[in-house]
Amino acid sequence: MKGIVLAGGSGTRLYPVTQVVNKHLLPIYNKPMIYYSLSLVMLAGIREVVIVINPSDEPFYRKLLKDGSHLGMRIEYSLQEAPLGLTHAIMSTRDLVGENPAMVVLGDNILYGHNLGELFRKVKDSVEREGGAYVFGYHVQDPTRFGVVEFDQEGRVLSIEEKPQKPKSNFAVIGIYFFDITLFEKGARVKPSARGEYEITSLLEEYLKEGSLRVSLLGRGFAWFDAGTHSSFLEAGNFVQTIEEKTGYMLGAVEEIAYRNGWINREELKKLACLYQKTGYGEYLLKVAEEETNIAERLYFHC
Ligand code: G1P
Repeated sequence: MKGIVLAGGSGTRLYPVTQVVNKHLLPIYNKPMIYYSLSLVMLAGIREVVIVINPSDEPFYRKLLKDGSHLGMRIEYSLQEAPLGLTHAIMSTRDLVGENPAMVVLGDNILYGHNLGELFRKVKDSVEREGGAYVFGYHVQDPTRFGVVEFDQEGRVLSIEEKPQKPKSNFAVIGIYFFDITLFEKGARVKPSARGEYEITSLLEEYLKEGSLRVSLLGRGFAWFDAGTHSSFLEAGNFVQTIEEKTGYMLGAVEEIAYRNGWINREELKKLACLYQKTGYGEYLLKVAEEETNIAERLYFHC
């Protein structure tokens, strides 16, 4: 399975802050926003990732994340010529992703919770074995701001509506999706919506029509943010700061995840940490590199 991170778009809802700088390069507390979405793909164990960006942002992404080899990954960039919707962005990766299933993450989504990697790997295995697509539902106060999913007791999706005025449930579809290899074939069938965009929900409807769209609900133990407005942006940053200061663990530290996944070794992690030696980020990476085998990780409760 390959990963696709969507980091293009015009970010108009965050103007004037995103007038010059792409939203996904801005900081959520102590790291660029893109680290958090990229880390979700990495937690699923996916090493080959395509990031969809605006053409004018290419030099910045190449400077920040390069070709991914420093993380033991392969990162490629797909240039989206015009912001014509999320399905349009996904379709731009067709040649790079090829005949592979894909995990798609919206670059402004931040998800925190216990055993995320295990959850993603289970869903990934299921899509690879049985096909179809998976979305995740998260209970929210105001579903009208999001894609909304309605489902039956077996977790089969009954309907998905984009920003409905009368939502059929309180479960928002978060910006993390797993698709089988028919993704691009289905994406090619999507027509622009009334607002002229190739919507992600229209792509999901293609799976829904053949009865192969499933939902997995994220319970109360998860915190989800889409940092797409000024207040949710700040909220996400404050959350990251709170958790990191309380627990001493960092969120979205891509170098740490690469190391814990076994994609880079201790010496490589130390070298990366040295690049940031003047900050708490560098100190943290160094601490991770120097810690003994993490016994605590093995003692956590697993079903
Ligand atoms: C997009 C999707 C929506 C989803 C949301 C999650 O909306 O279209 O279905 O619920 O991301 O972040 P946007 O934030 O682009 O308006």
